[in-house]
Amino acid sequence: MSGNWKMNHDHLTAIRTVQALGFAVSAKDYRVVDVSLHPPFTAIRSVQTVLESDEMPISLGAQDCHFEDKGAFTGEVSAAMLAKLHVKYVIVGHSERRMYFGESNEVVRAKLEAVLRNHMVPIVCVGETLDEREEGATSERLSAQVTAAISGLAEESVSQLVLAYEPIWAIGTGLSASVEDATQACGLIRSLVAELSGEGASRAVRIQYGGSVNPQNTAEMLAAAGIDGVLVGGASLEAASFAAIISAAAGSSDA
Ligand code: 13P
Repeated sequence: MSGNWKMNHDHLTAIRTVQALGFAVSAKDYRVVDVSLHPPFTAIRSVQTVLESDEMPISLGAQDCHFEDKGAFTGEVSAAMLAKLHVKYVIVGHSERRMYFGESNEVVRAKLEAVLRNHMVPIVCVGETLDEREEGATSERLSAQVTAAISGLAEESVSQLVLAYEPIWAIGTGLSASVEDATQACGLIRSLVAELSGEGASRAVRIQYGGSVNPQNTAEMLAAAGIDGVLVGGASLEAASFAAIISAAAGSSDA
């Protein structure tokens, strides 16, 4: 279960939010749910300090990274730099990166390899637009994205991955995918992993659903076969709603 803050929270509001989360989440919920928080780059160091000093069992995450470890790439942040801050999970290929910053499947693959090379876990986002869904092109789009991300990777690398199914039309719209549509898409993603990397990897890989997740729809999503977790945007910004999502997940399954 991951909270993607996108371009929200400066380092001061980030600190307050994480401290509030510390009070709002019960220790029992942490034991059954693997939680990561993905602040903007400027708040990562501050969030790391709070998590480590308060010994909160939340993993630190990032929203993106560059595919090279260092070099003349003004404005960029490398996976190697994130690893130094004890970041564990890095989102790669979020649809907002693909749409607004022109990230191709090839760039996403290079970023995924950079994250693995630096001993962190990539959360690889895939998903279709509304037009693609309406044209019946969802499977084709998911297949192209998953294939570009993992084909030729070692089975043990693929086994560590988190794949996030985030239909673009469900992001930030308040219109979550139905449990049936999400189950079908996550099932397709898992079968692509089986085809490309073997049955072992397809069982080990964790698949999240993302797109208008809230405290009310979390439990039913996680109760669905083959959906192992959720990737939360807007509802992760406030401690109370993210804590309610964590608690709903803890009650429903091992997300
Ligand atoms: P929302 O939960 O705000 O729809 O965002 C989903 C998302 O893009 C998470 O990465």
